[in-house]
Amino acid sequence: MLSFEDDLPLQAEPAVSPVAKPSSAAATPASGSAPQRRVNAADKRIINGQTDVNQLVPFKYKWAWEKYLATCSNHWMPQEINMSRDIALWKDPNGLTDDERRIIKRNLGFFTTADSLAANNIVLGTYRHITAPECRQFLLRQAFEEAIHTHAYQYIVESLGLDESEIFNAYNEVKSIRDKDEFLIPFIEAIMDPHFHTGTPANDQTLLKSLIVFACLMEGLFFYVGFTQILALGRQNKMTGAAEQYQYILRDESMHCNFGIDLINAIKLENPHLWTAEFKAEIKGLFERAVELEYRYAEDTMPRGVLGLNAAMFKGYLRYIANRRATQIGLDELFPNEENPFPWMSEMIDLKKERNFFETRVIEYQTGGALSWD
Ligand SMILES: [Fe+2]
Ligand SMILES: [Fe+2]
Repeated sequence: MLSFEDDLPLQAEPAVSPVAKPSSAAATPASGSAPQRRVNAADKRIINGQTDVNQLVPFKYKWAWEKYLATCSNHWMPQEINMSRDIALWKDPNGLTDDERRIIKRNLGFFTTADSLAANNIVLGTYRHITAPECRQFLLRQAFEEAIHTHAYQYIVESLGLDESEIFNAYNEVKSIRDKDEFLIPFIEAIMDPHFHTGTPANDQTLLKSLIVFACLMEGLFFYVGFTQILALGRQNKMTGAAEQYQYILRDESMHCNFGIDLINAIKLENPHLWTAEFKAEIKGLFERAVELEYRYAEDTMPRGVLGLNAAMFKGYLRYIANRRATQIGLDELFPNEENPFPWMSEMIDLKKERNFFETRVIEYQTGGALSWD
């Protein structure tokens, strides 16, 4: 639980961050002895900043604001998507193979809880440590999108009439899912701890590591076997409602991942002393472990070839993605010369909502309530 000190005050009395301050930071403004209530953009910092976090402008990190605007323009809700074809296919005993059904259930088993983990990580972890209000603005939007994603997965589970307790408990009961979550959870808990504050090199590295694990390895890697599988079903005209939902989620996650990478790189730029050889070696080890865990998940979800996919193809794909994430944060490629075996996935990320690949049609739109597809 967070203490009251962690709550935002209603008025911007102090010129310093009203949230948990780094233990080593002075309680007075950085630029003089008298309180300065007006913010100079140049004084802002992503972490350990001393400027008032309640003043969104003047902007310093325009990339964060632009990504916030972009995510808002991508707004969607799960109930917009017609699930009737998916329901008919799922209920048809000959509609899907056992291997296809396994993929769908495993997929939902991972994702129904993964986005709750992501939301909790932002709201209870990352948010209070970030002292740039334009970055916080993106995180607020991102947190809501994670809620929409959890909603979307729940909506698919409900639409198909799946056993809710089986799906929502999969992260406790299915080893390949549990192993991924056990890898992630320590990085969430470290920054959620109310006694944890940034402001020392070691603690700043702990935060930076958590941001890298989340953006590059969870949103940027652990989601990709699942996304590819469901979108491959959609490409074969199966489960097109679920695939359309995943398409929107993939677009959102791609933005989250890119924002996270910008955030990481901005912290590196402002705090170059954190990027030590030891730290980079530790991050490289985490990347290797994450690729291994996601590959095991691919093997578990696809014991045989299905939908033109097999686990071995994902070995190359995961290495290709890991290379990309590593270079995006300034690390060397871990697996040089890997090629993308699924170039169509890149097209999926770029598709506009209006031109969705599966051409399913929204037959009725209703905000704030669920539609019945019976
Ligand atoms: Fe998400
Ligand atoms: Fe996300």
